[in-house]
Amino acid sequence: MPKILLRKKEGGEKTEETESASASPEDIYKQNCISCHGDAYQGGVGPALKGVGDRLSVDEVKDVITNGRGAMPPGLVEEQNVDAMAEYIHGLK
Ligand code: HEC
Repeated sequence: MPKILLRKKEGGEKTEETESASASPEDIYKQNCISCHGDAYQGGVGPALKGVGDRLSVDEVKDVITNGRGAMPPGLVEEQNVDAMAEYIHGLK
């Protein structure tokens, strides 16, 4: 019995509650970045993020995301998601 219950939970309804813990980079972007960087990464309050990989290394992107820079606030992305987020942003074309 308990086994069956566990499996049910894993398969189905995990999506919304664990949002911040295991969100995809796209979801994080929509929630935390879109207002300043635009729905197509074209920029707004912040610079365009398309092609940012030509200007910054993954580590530099990570640094901006972690520590903020200028008018960009630090700590928008939870620590366990920062690596994936930095690689995603770095790879935008
Ligand atoms: C409150 C507005 C705001 C939000 C929200 C925001 N940013 Fe920014 N971002 C900025 C600004 C402004 C800059 C330029 C900082 C400077 O003056 O150097 C910037 C710069 C950057 C840069 C460096 C770009 C470059 O060309 O050097 C990256 C990468 C970046 N942001 C990623 C993100 C990500 C990822 C998120 C969401 C987790 C995010 N930003 C959320 C305002 C924002």
